[in-house]
Amino acid sequence: MKHTHAPSTTRLARLTRLALSLSCSLPWMLASGASHAGEHERAGRVPPPMPYVQECAACHVAYPPGMLPATSWTRLMNGLGQHFGTDASLDEKDVRLIHQWLMANADTRSRASAPVPQDRITRTAWFERKHRHIEPGTWRLPSVRSASNCMACHTGADRGQFGEHDLRMPQGLSARQRAAWDD
Ligand code: HEC
Ligand code: HEC
Repeated sequence: MKHTHAPSTTRLARLTRLALSLSCSLPWMLASGASHAGEHERAGRVPPPMPYVQECAACHVAYPPGMLPATSWTRLMNGLGQHFGTDASLDEKDVRLIHQWLMANADTRSRASAPVPQDRITRTAWFERKHRHIEPGTWRLPSVRSASNCMACHTGADRGQFGEHDLRMPQGLSARQRAAWDD
């Protein structure tokens, strides 16, 4: 750990949970890559290096590498000191290890060559298409807070599972938001 600020209690709780689930969460990328085709290919097939699971899942889920093109991962890994308003810097060895693995498992489909705004998964064309039925206010609910918070709706996001069987409606949806969701 080399984040400069003191970890919050929620982050400690997350880390504890992560440590407990580490043994079963490691093979998730292998499992999801092997058992699904098509969209799920982006979950990747090669298990992540330990620092990816330990460091990059401390503040949010360990995003599957196949959800961003290599250019975006490179920019993100070169800018960890100013990472979406936080300091996510790591020592050089871990940065190199994580970067290599991200490159090897990045999204390589032809349309992945289009630049991704802010290098966000949530700003990719495929993300917007997959979530086009979600009413805009849904993203801002207290139970969701941000589109980046995949776990609010995808209960298997920490295992790289984004299929319809692992979906839940977050709390506090209005009737209109529920109707849009079911669309
Ligand atoms: C100190 C906390 C912290 C750490 C550690 C951290 N991140 Fe983040 N990350 C954030 C925050 C905050 C956001 C923005 C979330 C939002 O907009 O709601 C973010 C967003 C992201 C996004 C974009 C999500 C989207 O909106 O599509 C990616 C990709 C990402 N992080 C990758 C990484 C990687 C790779 C690592 C490890 C090298 C990492 N993060 C470590 C805090 C962190
Ligand atoms: C507010 C709830 C919500 C959040 C937050 C959310 N999603 Fe989704 N996501 C959905 C819903 C609902 C669907 C199903 C859409 C449909 O089938 O019409 C979906 C579909 C998907 C799919 C397509 C799955 C398939 O089988 O085709 C992927 C991949 C996905 N989401 C990834 C993500 C990622 C990655 C994040 C976080 C960066 C995220 N989602 C955040 C609600 C959400």
